[in-house]
Amino acid sequence: MTTGHELDRRDPIGAEVDRIEALAKVTGRATYTGDVAPAGAAYAVMLGSTISSGRIRSLQTNEAETGDGVLAVLSHLNRPPWIARPPVPYYCDTRLPLEDDQVHFGGQCVALAIADTAEQAAEAAERVVVEYEPRRVSAGTPHRPVGPYADRYPVEFRRGEAETALPHSDHQIDVEYRTAHLAHAAMEPSATVASWEDGKLTLIESSQAVHLHRDAVAAAFGLAPEDVRVIAPVVGGAFGGKTFLWPHTLLAALASRVVGRPVRLTITRKQAFTSTGHMPATWQRIRLGARRDGRLTAVIHDSVNTTSHTVDRQEPTIQAGLVPYAFSHLAAQTQVRRIYVGTSTVMRAPGDTPGRFAVECALDELAAQLRVDPLELRRRNHSSVHPHTGKPWSANHLLRCYERGAAAFGWDRRTPEPGSMRLGHDLVGFGMAVGVHEERHRAASARVVLTADGTVDVYTGTQEIGGGTLTTMAQIAASVVGVRPKAVRVHGGDTRLPAGAPTFGSMTSGNTGSAVRIAAEKVRDEVLRIALHDPRSPFYGLHADAVECREGGLVGLTEPCRLEPYSKILRRNNIATVSMRGEYAPRSAETAPFAAAAFAAHFTEVRIDTRLPRVRVVRHVGVFDCGRVLNTKTATSQARGGIIFAIGGALMESLDLDPDSDRLLNPGLTDYHVPVNADVGEITPLFIDIPDTVAHPVGAKGLGEVCAIGVAPAVANAVFHATGKRVRDLPITPDKLLR
Ligand code: MOS
Repeated sequence: MTTGHELDRRDPIGAEVDRIEALAKVTGRATYTGDVAPAGAAYAVMLGSTISSGRIRSLQTNEAETGDGVLAVLSHLNRPPWIARPPVPYYCDTRLPLEDDQVHFGGQCVALAIADTAEQAAEAAERVVVEYEPRRVSAGTPHRPVGPYADRYPVEFRRGEAETALPHSDHQIDVEYRTAHLAHAAMEPSATVASWEDGKLTLIESSQAVHLHRDAVAAAFGLAPEDVRVIAPVVGGAFGGKTFLWPHTLLAALASRVVGRPVRLTITRKQAFTSTGHMPATWQRIRLGARRDGRLTAVIHDSVNTTSHTVDRQEPTIQAGLVPYAFSHLAAQTQVRRIYVGTSTVMRAPGDTPGRFAVECALDELAAQLRVDPLELRRRNHSSVHPHTGKPWSANHLLRCYERGAAAFGWDRRTPEPGSMRLGHDLVGFGMAVGVHEERHRAASARVVLTADGTVDVYTGTQEIGGGTLTTMAQIAASVVGVRPKAVRVHGGDTRLPAGAPTFGSMTSGNTGSAVRIAAEKVRDEVLRIALHDPRSPFYGLHADAVECREGGLVGLTEPCRLEPYSKILRRNNIATVSMRGEYAPRSAETAPFAAAAFAAHFTEVRIDTRLPRVRVVRHVGVFDCGRVLNTKTATSQARGGIIFAIGGALMESLDLDPDSDRLLNPGLTDYHVPVNADVGEITPLFIDIPDTVAHPVGAKGLGEVCAIGVAPAVANAVFHATGKRVRDLPITPDKLLR
């Protein structure tokens, strides 16, 4: 026993704990799906269509089939009838892979080669001879939002009478913005390893949601969910591209059943641009009406996004666009427009990223027109309730984000006139914008087990996609049970475990985190009960309030303030483990009496050389209100990553389409540019770090997406401030500033 005052009282929550899997990752020992090679495995490679619309006239596989090691070549001509369409959206599309002879986008899988090695499979795929009957695509239309829309998709938010109120406003803004078609560009291309045993299917899968993938695969094969097991080892980045099920997963499972061996299918780097979705291009028209003092009166937000010919997917730009601000009249609607590309999907804060770009730039335009400081304009429009529903916020520290960010950034050094700040050949611009991400409430479960050796296991079907989930879940259990984070093992990424929340929509910290916390509290309560009822315990008969769980055991709060380790308590009572399950069943956003969101204030400094107007973000301060910060180190990294990929979207990323064929012009990291170190200046993420236990018991809200939301408009607003030129079309490449 040790005496109390020597004990470590630091709470593991919020601490800068190193990632559990860090050493394995940096030493190359971490296993990704594409590293898994079961004994006797075969390999499959997809062949993509070379036209973006039309039909397959003929498809010859004879030559491919005779190649060395080739086991089978599948196409629409011989696809076994074992799969049916699982429901959208958990499956990405309304069509099955190899469904028929129709081609709806360039890169659509038209054949699958299966061989002993990946190289043999790739060669066989190349040898499949496909003749197409191309359909003429409507050249150019995807690039212009004017004219009648191909489809109406009546998603609307409406309150008051925006159309009537707007013309009577003292000041009005009417502007159009455009955002580009973007790729997730995760480091790890998606992969699946499929194997069958006794009619049961196991998938090792780069997945953001093992339980959702399991259910979708089970639906496709007509299996009971318990006959499908999905395992996600560490995932090498996702950004939304591994949220739903894509054809390669079904194809790998199909192939494995055809050849009677485990099959690994890793999509190629190029296929990562065509086969797991993208963010669609958007056009948005924003009309703002405001009083002389800058307070908004009416807003009309019209949004159009591209979609495929097989799914009407609406990019939800309008959902949260105006949430932080108070005003009476709103009309917002979204429409979709078909082009010959694959179906889009969620990516890097879907809807919110492009939506905020338009809204926050329009506010900056209003501020310039009114000659009001852009930050002051936001303050004047701050809403103390959720403006759509009128519900109070669970917590909202956006005003503190403004204050903290402005001070850290030095916003008061900004001289308002565009072009008024210079440094040598450089124009200097300061811009700011707001980010908001509405919190998602999702049921989640976890099991926490305390073992007689004093270690703790956490079991929850979450997945580590790079954000630090395994580590933060360990910290939560460690904090509640009172052990060091290193004494906690976290088991995730497996459908045999209790279902966690999916790892998308910034749902992990709040939902899965709360489930882990609830399970850990039950373990703590049970071990307390055991000790307080044990006549051999020094704490026998004490009230639970008189002892604390920390440093791997119980500590009396009154003298003698001693530690009794859990190992001793459990062994003395012949208890091997204390195992408890936590169920977190939050109310939905609709039924909760409060509204919850994470907030951000972004401040950016750009410098633009007047001789070659390339925009450089030299400084960025992002201040986040995401409730309690679970791990300052991983949160800071996540925020930095989110800001960096949003700088990519602001300044360089664009997946361009050939206007004559709708085929992608730059599906590769050589031509699709993402930021590298030289593109990134000094990035300072800051956190308000006030727990929001109204939103979730764990006090934390999602951070993943809000990091990125609002960065692009901050950059665009800084570019305007530097140059006086308003670029309303992302990315802001030098040619647009030269024009
Ligand atoms: Mo994300 S688009 O919630 O992975």
